[in-house]
Amino acid sequence: MAAELRNDRFLRALRRQPTDTTPIWVMRQAGRYLPEYRATRARAGSFMGLATNPEYACEVTLQPLERFELDAAILFSDILTIPDAMGLGLSFAQGEGPRFARPLRDAAAIEALTVPDMDGELRYVMDAVRLIRRELDGRVPLIGFSGSPWTLACYMVEGQGSRDFARVKALAWDQPALAHRLLDTIARAVAAYLVAQAHAGAQALMIFDTWGGLLGPGPFREFSLRYMAQVVEVLKTDAASRDLPVILFSKGAGGQLEALADTGCAGLGVDWTLDIGEARRRVGDRVALQGNLDPAVLLASPEVVAREARAVLDAFGNHPGHVFNLGHGITPEVNPENVKVLVDTVHEHGRVIRAL
Ligand code: CP3
Repeated sequence: MAAELRNDRFLRALRRQPTDTTPIWVMRQAGRYLPEYRATRARAGSFMGLATNPEYACEVTLQPLERFELDAAILFSDILTIPDAMGLGLSFAQGEGPRFARPLRDAAAIEALTVPDMDGELRYVMDAVRLIRRELDGRVPLIGFSGSPWTLACYMVEGQGSRDFARVKALAWDQPALAHRLLDTIARAVAAYLVAQAHAGAQALMIFDTWGGLLGPGPFREFSLRYMAQVVEVLKTDAASRDLPVILFSKGAGGQLEALADTGCAGLGVDWTLDIGEARRRVGDRVALQGNLDPAVLLASPEVVAREARAVLDAFGNHPGHVFNLGHGITPEVNPENVKVLVDTVHEHGRVIRAL
């Protein structure tokens, strides 16, 4: 039997239920800004050595919770585990970001792709989820995650990070049927991956569409949104995932909030280019919102961190449905002391707002 959840603020906020204060977690909360993360990573030898070992993955997942009063844990893994399991050969060169040995460069490679076995190549992810749930022992809920089909396609076709991911965009325009075939295969893999994480014990699910904002409104709906909606649909058909809140985060796609809210997800991630109060008025009571402090604020003084955190809370106002977060991942240069200031300020000021 799983231990009873002792802090359900995050799940309640996603369901737009009242909470005593605003819950907070931080994208990339287990990461290089923490010396203890760098120490475990050094022992593991490489990023993939860390991610594929459930004991190490569990250890680094819990590290930020030891320091800060965070309201959720997120599985330590990466969005590129699926393409790696599909045979593309993932590696992370020190300081360089991800790289695939075998990127998708022709129709034959795309047509040969199949959905990986969640109890085979990706079993290490599910083992990590099970171990983390056991070690969390009900402290806070565990978030499982995946990349969006579009964002995974960006890396799979390009073979590495890129400023504009022009290769996958050219594919979408020149060979739309082939692009749709690729996105459909990835979407089926993403859905199976998230369902398997739900079975293993994930209590909320997040889809990172980091590169959705590269697309204009029409192509966004056709190549990104549609496949996230397909994944959300499938999640509603499995008993383990049906009732889990799903958060969609399309970075740079603030113009598409209403369309994203109509997918059936519980929450939307919001980057810092939107006023979160305005975003709330636009989506109304359809979804909760997660965000949206500019991660660069954490490079400033503790006083500025506290002031800017209060400004985000004030902009959202005294309404249900806010999960505080950054507008994108925390960066390696951040002083962990500032994260403590952020978390404590959010909890303190969240109470102040509710008493108004
Ligand atoms: O949030 C968490 O704490 C959970 C762990 C997590 C990682 N990656 C660990 C990681 C999550 C949720 C991700 C998602 C991810 N990975 C995204 C979507 C979110 C986003 O930031 O937009 C993307 C685009 C990736 C792909 C990826 N992985 C890149 C581009 C890089 C290199 C960038 C960098 O910071 O070096 C990674 C590597 C990676 N994934 C690291 C971590 C902690 C750093 C690698 C290291 O320790 O050397």
